[in-house]
Amino acid sequence: MLQSARTLMGLFLSGRRLGLPVELATMQIRQMTQFDIPAGMRLKEIAYWNQSEADWELFLAANPEGCFVNEVDGRVAGTVATIVYEDRFAWIGMVLVDPEFRKHGIGTALLQKAIQHLDSRDIPCVRLDATPQGRPVYEKLGFVDEYEIERWRLTRQAGHAKSVVSAPNLERALLLDREVFGADRSGLLRSMAESAPEFVQVLIGHAGVTGYSLGRRGSHSDSLGPWVARDEGATEQMLDTFLARSGRETIVIDCLKSNPWARGALQARGFEFERPLTRMRRGANIHKGRPELVCGILGPEFG
Ligand SMILES: CC(C)(COP(=O)(O)OP(=O)(O)OC[C@H]1O[C@@H](n2cnc3c(N)ncnc32)[C@H](O)[C@@H]1OP(=O)(O)O)[C@@H](O)C(=O)NCCC(=O)NCCS
Repeated sequence: MLQSARTLMGLFLSGRRLGLPVELATMQIRQMTQFDIPAGMRLKEIAYWNQSEADWELFLAANPEGCFVNEVDGRVAGTVATIVYEDRFAWIGMVLVDPEFRKHGIGTALLQKAIQHLDSRDIPCVRLDATPQGRPVYEKLGFVDEYEIERWRLTRQAGHAKSVVSAPNLERALLLDREVFGADRSGLLRSMAESAPEFVQVLIGHAGVTGYSLGRRGSHSDSLGPWVARDEGATEQMLDTFLARSGRETIVIDCLKSNPWARGALQARGFEFERPLTRMRRGANIHKGRPELVCGILGPEFG
């Protein structure tokens, strides 16, 4: 209570100092709760993002103390969510500000709050995937580029989704994923596999797992990711299987620009480039993982 009063007063004063409109001087940051999910959905819908209520719930379940909203006159005007992976690094996602209140420092204030929370937990590195709009805001807070990601979109005629007899065992893929991602995110992946078992693929060759992928049913489109492969054959096989099992009219995939096979495979199947994303970090990351095996990421909000 005392803390939130201080936050309110701090923002009141900095709002006054910045010469903000009176209504912005009454903004405050507080922890996000389940009851804020509809407000978060409203903001992500304005930005035409693909997340569902379940994605917000995952953030709130994983790190309830690390999700915040900014209120202006009691109305949610911005959000930020964080998730910590094995205390190795954290991810910041769902950075959204109501267009009505943008360019008044709300995005920056929410990020500072998230960083302060992660610093208090001694998390050595904070990472995120930045949109072109978010990137300058992150740069000012000390984030630097790691590598480029590209969003590709396929628009097709909706078709019959190919049915699946049973989902493969994910356990071997989860072991490889820790190596590839740089930290254990098995809880998150298990929950995604439960929500969309038809999208789980694990390819096994002579030398072990040659590829694995999961998928999500978003509010506007289906997405493939993580999409991880050791060779071109596995890359294409998982993409084709996913496309057949989805049947959805719109598909989005966030693919690593440096991957030798992914972009070509997407282009050959009619995907079109939509926008760049930049993976960024603040603080040294000694758990780099193996990005060279990644065709597509799980999602910008989770890494
Ligand atoms: C990106 C986003 C979150 C930024 O939110 P915001 O509240 O506008 O962010 P800020 O106000 O802190 O900073 C934005 C700009 O306003 C400037 N600014 C901040 N306070 C200001 C003030 N009082 N007067 C004038 N400009 C100000 C900042 O310097 C910054 O400038 P820059 O774009 O040149 O770097 C918002 O644009 C958004 O929701 N975009 C859509 C979703 C998205 O892309 N999110 C990022 C995901 S990675």
